[in-house]
Amino acid sequence: MDKYVIHGGKPLKGEVTISGAKNAALAIIAASILAEDRCVIENVPDISDVNIMFQILQMMGAPVRMLSPGTVEIDTTNIMLPVVPYELARQMRASYYFLGALLGRCSHASVSMPGGCDFGLRPIDQHIKAFEAMEAVASIDHGMINVSAEQLLGAHIYFDVVTVGATINAMLAAVKAKGLTILENAAKEPHIVDLANFLNSMGADIRGAGTDVIKIHGVEEMHGADYSIIPDQIEAGTFMVAAAATHGEVLIKNVIPKHLESIAEKLLRVGASVTEYDDSVLVVGSPTLQRVNVKTLPHPGFPTDMQPQITTLLTQAEGTSIVTEGIWPNRFRYVDELRRMGAKIQVDGVVAVVEGPIELTGAPVKATDLRAGAAMLIAACCAKGATEIEDIYHIERGYENIVEKFVSLGADIRKVTDSEVSAPVLSQAL
Ligand code: EPU
Repeated sequence: MDKYVIHGGKPLKGEVTISGAKNAALAIIAASILAEDRCVIENVPDISDVNIMFQILQMMGAPVRMLSPGTVEIDTTNIMLPVVPYELARQMRASYYFLGALLGRCSHASVSMPGGCDFGLRPIDQHIKAFEAMEAVASIDHGMINVSAEQLLGAHIYFDVVTVGATINAMLAAVKAKGLTILENAAKEPHIVDLANFLNSMGADIRGAGTDVIKIHGVEEMHGADYSIIPDQIEAGTFMVAAAATHGEVLIKNVIPKHLESIAEKLLRVGASVTEYDDSVLVVGSPTLQRVNVKTLPHPGFPTDMQPQITTLLTQAEGTSIVTEGIWPNRFRYVDELRRMGAKIQVDGVVAVVEGPIELTGAPVKATDLRAGAAMLIAACCAKGATEIEDIYHIERGYENIVEKFVSLGADIRKVTDSEVSAPVLSQAL
């Protein structure tokens, strides 16, 4: 099994350039199906989740061609098979965006129940509610979600919870539905706005994305477009937190500072300095960090996808911090791994009580999911001695060139591949 081996204890210093946003890219790649044409997408991150989306498109009959690093051409003129099988769908959550996109394009879709990070129950009732409101018929048979409609009709949909996935799926289906669709209590994340901009550049008529009411007038035809994906808010946030946690100094380039405000606010409260420029932010850690409480909320609140990273930082802050998870009730599984490194964190339901500052010590740990893996990297950079992170495929699902980027900031990280693991790596390192 591939691993990362990290020798910690050095502040991160230098510059890092942020890649295209994973969660925008996944929605936009699925949306390209609606073009029935050729799309050129720039700033596409080279991560395994994106590669799976491309495999799904190719399997359906849509060729994907790499034009240059980060730029792909997708030709969805011909879609032979509106089906996403288990082997591909189970590897990621966003495979279910093909439900909305194929429903809009072919009036029918069969997608195996999706996988993705394991945060306990991840219901899809709001997706189904939106499709049914648009007069589609939905069923779940033998692990496949089937949706079909004779004619998709615009509808007024009020989401019971704020959900990124169902907002995206409803937008994908509604752009070609007959009449007006109104989504209320819609998610407002930056990738919702990016998807709406992409769909509008293909001829859709979407207004209000980024607010909690999105209005979509269905159109009959869409066309190909050239589009560049926004920078990844969570990757940028991960480096911001890594800089502060290691008492370093990092200029994070190719970002939209507005998307980072909730993260910057917490870093200022812990005592780091954050300077915003037009498309970059400079984070300078202070020798001592202060406690702060954090609660994750839908955008523009503090993102749940930054919760494991900020919790790790708070092990380095003086005093007791309270972290409350407001989106995924089961997102504290990684805390056991941090405890192996010496962290003092008590979890009670959706609340974690973090004591600090703690001198973390290197240990063998696992990336229990994508952002938990990012937290392990930050912890390993802070820790004394060597840390070995297993199950790094989770990290590589969502972070492009993560090892190279950390190494460029002075971190001592090495990826050890299967073939090299003939002897226990950690004992060699120690
Ligand atoms: N929910 C329902 N019913 C539904 C859908 C969601 O009750 O039909 C609930 C969920 O159980 C959860 C809340 O609504 O409590 C929010 O879920 P949401 O649908 O917003 O999450 P998602 O679309 O499955 C996306 C990101 C996640 C990120 C969440 C929240 C993608 C591919 N995934 O998931 O990203 O945590 O939004 O912001 O965009 C990550 O990138 O590491 C990641 C996990």
